[in-house]
Amino acid sequence: MSLLEKIDKTSVPKHIAIIMDGNGRWAKAHGLGRAEGHKEGVISVRKVVEAAVKANVKFLTIYVFSTENWKRPEEEINALMELMVYAVTKETPDLIENQVKVKNIGDITRLPEKTKKALEECEVKTSKGNKLTLILALSYSSRWEIVEAAKKLIREVGEGKIKEEEIDESLFSDYLSTKGIPDPDLVIRTGGEQRMSNFLLWQSAYAELYFTDTFWPAFREEDLYAAIIDYQHRERRFGKISEQIESAK
Ligand code: IPE
Ligand code: IPE
Ligand code: MG
Repeated sequence: MSLLEKIDKTSVPKHIAIIMDGNGRWAKAHGLGRAEGHKEGVISVRKVVEAAVKANVKFLTIYVFSTENWKRPEEEINALMELMVYAVTKETPDLIENQVKVKNIGDITRLPEKTKKALEECEVKTSKGNKLTLILALSYSSRWEIVEAAKKLIREVGEGKIKEEEIDESLFSDYLSTKGIPDPDLVIRTGGEQRMSNFLLWQSAYAELYFTDTFWPAFREEDLYAAIIDYQHRERRFGKISEQIESAK
């Protein structure tokens, strides 16, 4: 029996965000080069997207490439950028078929023209998808995003479009690249490390965190379902006490 049937359909996390880590170590463990790990990781992305649709998750954010990843060897960066073009182009028809809408967050101006174009095309072609929004965090980091938001706000205050007194958490959120997307309920990190690596720091303020030793290329449908079931056993208190949560049920 698939774990899918064990998921409580009334409390599925609306937004799951994943730090896909461990491609390089997976490849090494299989006697392969790092690029092979990234290739196998693309298959995991496809499987996990399909699983998210089946589980009725509405938003799935995947951390594809961080601002810090620009510091990797040029050869690996080039291989990743090429792989992205290939994967995005190949997957677009299936994404449309599954009614998945793709949205990029992150500084795509830094991407090679070919990669940028493939992503933009995918966004346009999948724009009608209404089952799942797949958010790609690409050339993304939280601190970059927050600084960009602050700069834009300051500009608009200077232009008189916004008054300082109007700035609150909700307004600030609208200046982030995740505007309109609910905060993640569950953040998953594969590959054994237990850190955020500059990912959705503002948005994950109250997310449940789930760490697994499984390397990303080995993380498939059942692993996503297991994470959802684990999440469903947590009590989200948001600062309150347990009795208040119980009485509100
Ligand atoms: C995650 O896997 C993919 C990217 C960051 C692009 P890694 O490439 O970080 O794999 P490990 O952590 O070296 O095993
Ligand atoms: C985080 O993975 C970034 C992505 C998954 C895209 P890394 O493997 O780059 O993270 P650190 O640098 O080891 O924390
Ligand atoms: Mg890593």
